This record gives sequence, C-alpha cells and structure tokens, in this order.
Amino acid sequence: MVPVFLRVRPRARRPGAPDAELGPAGRHGRAEKSREGRAGRMSRNWTEEQKDAIRARGGTLLVSAAAGSGKTAVLVQRVLERLTDPVRPTDADRLLVVTFTRAAAAEMSGRIESEIARMLEKDPENAHLRRQQLLLPRAHISTIDSFCADLVRQNFYRLGVAPDFRVLDDSEDTVLRSDAADQALREFYERGDAAFYEFVESFSSGRDDAGVARTVNRLYDFVRSHPFPRRWMKEKAELYGAGRPAGKTVWGRTLLAFARDAADYCISVTRDSLARAAEDEKIAAAYSDAYRSDLAGLNGLAEAVSAGDWDRAGAAARNFAFQKLRPLRGYGGSPLKNRLSAARSEVKSTVGKIASLFSATEEQCAGDIARLDPIVHKLFEVTVRFSEILDRMKGERHAVDFSDLEHLSLRLLVRETEHGFERTP
Ligand SMILES: Nc1ncnc2c1ncn2[C@@H]1O[C@H](COP(=O)(O)OP(=O)(O)O)[C@@H](O)[C@H]1O
Ligand SMILES: [Mg+2]
Repeated sequence: MVPVFLRVRPRARRPGAPDAELGPAGRHGRAEKSREGRAGRMSRNWTEEQKDAIRARGGTLLVSAAAGSGKTAVLVQRVLERLTDPVRPTDADRLLVVTFTRAAAAEMSGRIESEIARMLEKDPENAHLRRQQLLLPRAHISTIDSFCADLVRQNFYRLGVAPDFRVLDDSEDTVLRSDAADQALREFYERGDAAFYEFVESFSSGRDDAGVARTVNRLYDFVRSHPFPRRWMKEKAELYGAGRPAGKTVWGRTLLAFARDAADYCISVTRDSLARAAEDEKIAAAYSDAYRSDLAGLNGLAEAVSAGDWDRAGAAARNFAFQKLRPLRGYGGSPLKNRLSAARSEVKSTVGKIASLFSATEEQCAGDIARLDPIVHKLFEVTVRFSEILDRMKGERHAVDFSDLEHLSLRLLVRETEHGFERTP
C-alpha cells in the first residue's frame, strides 16, 4: 500500500461562497466526473484540499488541520461516498471507523446517520440507501479501545486470554503494579548483583526504593506505547555500550545540527550588522573591526561544528573572544545603534548557548556513557522482569489493561519479523 499524506490547510469557512471551487479538477481522471456529479449535489462548498481528502483512494491518508476546519466533515463525506459509490459501493456493516473518545465515535455515527436520512428525504425510492440506513447500527464505529476489546474477545482462544477477561480498574492496577515492583526488586536484591546495586543507587531517592519503582513503572508505560517494546529496549540499550564518540551518538548528532544552525544564524546576523553599520560612517569606524573579528570567530566555530569535531567546537564556543566595541559619542537615541546593540547581544547569548551544549569534553562524555551502560541495561532487565510478574498477576485475575488490549490486537493483526512486521494471513 502506498501511503498518501495529505495536509489539509485550515481555511476560513465560507458557507455562502460561490461555486468556483467546485470547478472540474482534471487530475483524478474519469472517476472524478461521476464523483463530481454527486459532489455537485452536496450542499457544501468543499475546499480543494477537502475534496482531495474526500476522494483520495487506495492508500493511507493523513489529514492534519486545525480544530473546526472540517476534518470530521471530510471523514463523514468519505464514508458517504464509499457507501454510495456507483461502481463499488461498500456496505455500512463493512466499515471500521475508530476514534479516541466515545464522544467522537458517537458524533461520527450520528453525523453519518443524519446525512443518510437527509439523502433519503430527497431520494425516498433509493433502496440501496435504505439498506445502508438499516445496516448502519451494525457498522464498527467505536473507540480504539472498544475495537481492540472486541477483537480480543472474538479471538481469546488464539491469544491464551481467559474468555471472561475484564479490564483492570485504576486502583487495582496501582496495587498490582506496586506488588509486582516489590517482587521484582526483591529477586534482584536476593541475587546480590553489583550492577543492580549501582542501578538502585542511581534511581532511589534516599530512604526507600520508591524512586526505583517509579522509574520502572514509567519505562514500562513508555515502552508499551511502542508496538514492539522488547525490540525498542534492545535497540536503545545497544546505543550505550557501542563506545561511540559523543559527536556520533544520536543526541550528539542532534546537538551538532542545532549548533550548526545556531552558528549560521549568528553569521547571518553579524553580516547584516556589518552591512548596516556601513550606512553610517562613524558607526562603521567604531564597529566594523569588531564585527569582522566576530565573523572570523563564528566561521571557525561553524567549521568545527560541521566537521563534527566535538572538542574543537566546544573550545571555540567557550573561548569565543568578542572584541569590545569602540565608544560612539552622540548616538544616545540612535535607532540604528540600538538595533545593532540588540543584534550583538543576541549573537553573544547564542554563542553562550552553543558553549553550554559542549559543556563536557568528548572524553568525559565517553566516561559517562560507559558508566551508564550497565545501569541502563539493568533498568531494562528489571523492567522486563517487572512486566513478566505483572502479566502473571493479571493473568491470574483474568484482567488486562487498555495497553494489553492494544498489544493483543496487534499480535492478531501483525507478526513481528527481524526488522519490522508483516500482516498475519
Ligand atoms: N467547506 C466547508 N464549508 C462550510 N462549512 C464547513 C466546511 N467544512 C466543514 N464545515 C463545517 O464546519 C464545522 C466544523 O467542522 P468539523 O468537521 O466538525 O471540524 P473538525 O472535525 O476539523 O473540528 C461543521 O459544522 C462543518 O459542517
Ligand atoms: Mg472533529
């Protein structure tokens, strides 16, 4: 499937706007004409972007637009056009529409229902529409949680889930998590594992292990927001031990890219100042040398950052020598002078920010990473053990949480492969 990403720009609504926007759009070819015919009968003047979003077929579509700009309206219209497609109509009970909230699901089915009723008023003899009206209550229009729960309920025997499973309530969930954390930590204490003690040192907040349990819980929730949590943890753990220099780490590359942009920005501000200073002879005489010296330093900084030379970039930013500007008499309220002062302060503070990014040397970073490596591995190991114990406790109670339902559904729909996933048959 080829994903089609389409951004619908928010637009002012124009309820009474003329029909100009409904003019023929040739690029969808012949199929466009029959749809255009029906679009013509619609009471609304869709914007071009909305029309694209309504008609795009055969791919994944992402519609992103401001609140109130007509996303739900577009989705409802997509559904209606599928139901009434002259060539390949879809029956309402074949739809799957998932939302995040019950209110949104209710709004969707309500809007589809009233649109069908409105179309039937105009075309009472239309048997196909009448049939869709009857099928609509059987359409799957629900929250994502309720969709997953249905899927798991229908397939419990494939998943090893109890047929009478229930969704855990918050207070029970809290108790179980606390018990599971106690039990997991106790196991590691009993083993007397040195890396574990170091891990506890790093995360406990003094007297008890509440901080450790909190971290494990947070990581557990976070990794479960990924489709394949174990793989995610494995990939992240590998980012530590690799002995990579700071500039080659994920965060180091991000910082270098940021520093590069910031240095380029300072260069362009300073060039601009130099050009503006030239507009006034006295200002030029007092400031130009300092600006040229700034530019030389900034170019050196940008070059070190581009080369990915962590320590040289850090030194260039930390030791940046801004020359003092020569005094300018009689320019008290000069707008040009004020503007130039503001620009230079901005450059100075930006260079200061770059310096703070490189506050540790490459060697110090490597030391930190090496020290963190066993701690991070232990954090992941404890979290995995915590989740095994928690799963067992939930299993004994025939209980699941919403995230379990999502993961169980995913297991029905796709199979994890070495580097990604494939659909189940
Ligand atoms: N092109 C349009 N012209 C006129 N009204 C529109 C248009 N698109 C949407 N609307 C109306 O604007 C309102 C908000 O639309 P809605 O789909 O609920 O927005 P969203 O889901 O993006 O928050 C609805 O009353 C809808 O009928
Ligand atoms: Mg909406």
